[in-house]
Amino acid sequence: MEEEKKKILCVGLVCLDIINVVDKYPEEDTDSRCLSQRWQRGGNASNSCTVLSLLGAPCAFMGSLSVGLVADFILEDFQKFHINVSLVSEHVQCALPASVVISNISTGSRTIMHMNRNLPDVTAQDFSKVDLRQFKWIHLEGRNAEEQVKMIQQVVMYNSTLPQHQKITVSVEIEKTREPLYQLFPHGDVVFVSKDVARHFGFLTAETALKGLYSRVKQGAVLVCAWAEKGADALGPDGLVIHSDAFPPKNLVDTLGAGDTFNAAVIYTLSNGGSLQDALTFGCRVAGRKCGFHGYDRIGEKFADD
Ligand code: ADP
Ligand code: FRU
Repeated sequence: MEEEKKKILCVGLVCLDIINVVDKYPEEDTDSRCLSQRWQRGGNASNSCTVLSLLGAPCAFMGSLSVGLVADFILEDFQKFHINVSLVSEHVQCALPASVVISNISTGSRTIMHMNRNLPDVTAQDFSKVDLRQFKWIHLEGRNAEEQVKMIQQVVMYNSTLPQHQKITVSVEIEKTREPLYQLFPHGDVVFVSKDVARHFGFLTAETALKGLYSRVKQGAVLVCAWAEKGADALGPDGLVIHSDAFPPKNLVDTLGAGDTFNAAVIYTLSNGGSLQDALTFGCRVAGRKCGFHGYDRIGEKFADD
């Protein structure tokens, strides 16, 4: 397959987001009306696919789904965004994960209550059936890390037979402060570490986090850390920390999925041969723009600042 036609694969969560839009965060044990309410396909890997697709990159999602009305809504939405779902596995007896989100248009904040009862994650055995030749980049949202390390080892084996330009690049996201996820640090060519994880390790800025955590990544890898309205930093093998400021929208209305949007825009740039600085700047630009409207649909539009 020609290199340009190869897809980006995102492995991780898809869930239902039930989003309640408010202009004032509710008090506990009160009964109030929200401005609007909507269903949206969510989950980090699923959101990143949405953004990749809107940016024009062919992509596929790999993850688990239940069956039924909500699963149908999710599948239809994947189709609407031209996201390949041939690697989605259906689990008849399981409940689909869902989040109730309070999205405050006065601050842009998003408060998430997530539920995942019994839907299993993709295993290394599932992954071993994937025809890797169709992909140029594989992004894993850190979840069942032990299995995910085995998946990455399969990609490393596959890569070992190929010339440099045909090798698959692997990125991982370490977003949640869960000890088992930290075993993923040495396994990505690009590693996204969140502000939450950075703080958990005692770092107060993206730059100090990158310098403090870089020894955990493999030789030659790039470590990236986004920091909300402070923008994002990255550190590669040359030892230089690079930075992009955030691009705050005129009105900050919806930060749900800002990080997933940032990751997708960074992957998009790097997978097209862009520099790390270009990737960071584009990541912040697209994520900042996203915070100015609800959902993701408008990401593909031309804006005055383009
Ligand atoms: P999340 O909490 O969704 O993981 P982050 O806080 O890591 O998201 O932010 C990811 C990127 O989104 C940031 O690097 C920034 O570019 C953009 N972003 C997030 N919040 C804001 C904000 N309040 N103003 C401007 N840009 C933002
Ligand atoms: C946003 C998101 C939501 C989902 C939640 C799961 O980053 O993926 O779509 O409900 O996080 O933690």
